[in-house]
Amino acid sequence: PQIFTVLGARPQFIKAAPVSRAIAEAGMTEVIAHTGQHFDALMSDVFFEELAIPKPAYNLEINSLGHGAMTGRMLEKLEAAMLAEKPAMVLVYGDTNSTVAGALAASKLHIPVAHVEAGLRSFNRRMPEEINRVITDHVSAFLFCPTQTAVRNLKNEGIVNGVHATGDVMFDTTIAAVARAKGRSTILDDLKLTPKQYSVATIHRAENTDDPARFARVVAWLEDAARSTPIVMPVHPRTRKLLSQSGVVPAGLTLIDPIGYLDMASLINQSAAVFTDSGGLQKEAYFHGVPCVTLRDETEWVETVEAGWNRLWTVPDYAPRRDIPDYGDGKASELIASLIRAALEA
Ligand code: UD1
Repeated sequence: PQIFTVLGARPQFIKAAPVSRAIAEAGMTEVIAHTGQHFDALMSDVFFEELAIPKPAYNLEINSLGHGAMTGRMLEKLEAAMLAEKPAMVLVYGDTNSTVAGALAASKLHIPVAHVEAGLRSFNRRMPEEINRVITDHVSAFLFCPTQTAVRNLKNEGIVNGVHATGDVMFDTTIAAVARAKGRSTILDDLKLTPKQYSVATIHRAENTDDPARFARVVAWLEDAARSTPIVMPVHPRTRKLLSQSGVVPAGLTLIDPIGYLDMASLINQSAAVFTDSGGLQKEAYFHGVPCVTLRDETEWVETVEAGWNRLWTVPDYAPRRDIPDYGDGKASELIASLIRAALEA
């Protein structure tokens, strides 16, 4: 194949969907390896079906391990698959252990790495995602940045070659999802929700779930917010484990299993507000015109904060609201595919 793509976690499936389509439409061949990091039907399969992502040629089934074991096994198996496939380029997305494993395996085989969503920084090196981002960017040959802030972050680390501001592929996915969800998603009826009379929350980051005192503060914050508007919370497996171990039953929150992308798009689209520690959801809230509170002490998506659509929970007020042109026009994936093709032909 020309392109070997590494996927593993839910946000990567969402980002890859429009890019894989654009790659096929540009006449290039792609082989997908699924590391298995996310493996539930609800965390993985439903995204491949709903977003029509090509079937992975490799299913590595590596999950539920510590960072070292997970990343190490991925490295070993991805290297073997890359040696067998001999791709001209390896494509990775975002900031997970699957991302850094794919990037390291490829770069040591001298296969050029292309990183979609390059240049994001929280400047918090205690986050595993931040380590994954920094390492991946420093071994990548092609860095596709969703924003100008990301381009600047790379420049500050001395990375200028192969850097392209492309817009955000998640905007492409959101546009497609809103159109597809109409008439297909019944989630509001299923949960008996009235548009704009509820909020949506998600919590899964280690920084919020690993420390019981911190997790208790997050739950208390959500319970407080639920006093004015009821909250629906699709619960990530990491958070589900923690809730069942601790026996905490948050008041005013309707806890549901993880949902598919079309249901999530409908749920956010009609919500009054989004409360989250997810990176992607902060932007998706903006794409749907919904205000967001980020339950973290910093964010990579500073544009959403500057433009008044998002605020950190530590900050009481939003900035004045405006549009964010940086995220592009919904054609970031096509631009990325054409840049990849030009690179492969060069
Ligand atoms: C990972 C990424 C994070 C990303 C997130 C999106 C890393 C370091 N973190 O975090 O950047 O924002 O995915 O969701 O790569 N589990 C299941 N079923 C699943 C998936 C996970 O039960 O389908 C369980 C695992 O067994 C584990 C826990 O959930 O116990 C956490 O999974 P893990 O892959 O370690 O990290 P995430 O929290 O999902």
